Amino acid sequence: MGLPKLQIALDNGVLSEALESIRLVGDEVDVIEAGTILCLAEGMEAVRCLRALYPEKTILADTKCADAGGTVAKNCADAGADWMTVICCATIPTMKAALKEVRDLQVELYGDWTFAQAEAWMAAGLTQVVYHQSRDALLAGETWTDKDLDKIRKLVSMGFKVSVTGGLEVETLPLFAGIDVYTFIAGRGIRDASDPRQAARDFKAEIARIWG
Ligand code: 5RP
Repeated sequence: MGLPKLQIALDNGVLSEALESIRLVGDEVDVIEAGTILCLAEGMEAVRCLRALYPEKTILADTKCADAGGTVAKNCADAGADWMTVICCATIPTMKAALKEVRDLQVELYGDWTFAQAEAWMAAGLTQVVYHQSRDALLAGETWTDKDLDKIRKLVSMGFKVSVTGGLEVETLPLFAGIDVYTFIAGRGIRDASDPRQAARDFKAEIARIWG
């Protein structure tokens, strides 16, 4: 079992605020995400700025792309993104077209996806999925359950690199002990902390304690 990576999700609505967040924690994290909210608000300029600041880091554009995969992925790659996301209801041709343009692609799991679809993603050459508790589900009072953990285990056993996200706090990480999580993606749990750098360090320390 590998040591899970830590990814910061920059879901700021304004680029200058995203840059302020990343200035504090960029050196502490493994993957830097231009979040969906940031991509929609500021476009690919957000990715260009993150690439300029962090030439060595993995940068993800969280586009949750549903169509025009090749075009969207080329825009992301041209701006400097290594990875991007597609939504799980996108067609296989959309996913394949996107995968040709970027170094890697993550399928964002929302709603009613099936393991039969997951087999089709694997057959199409996709190896990364993001298991997601949506903001809106969390706001509606939903939380991580054994059902979620069983699905994550099954995706791992199918051979996927599985990232986990949605309202993560340091205290949430022990729930996933014993599971080969590829990356923990945290946004508000780091950005909104009184000391974001310390929060990122606390995530890293807890990951090392549990998986190290
Ligand atoms: C929302 C996302 C977020 O980037 C991700 O869930 C992390 O954010 P937070 O930790 O604040 O929930 O993809 O669609």
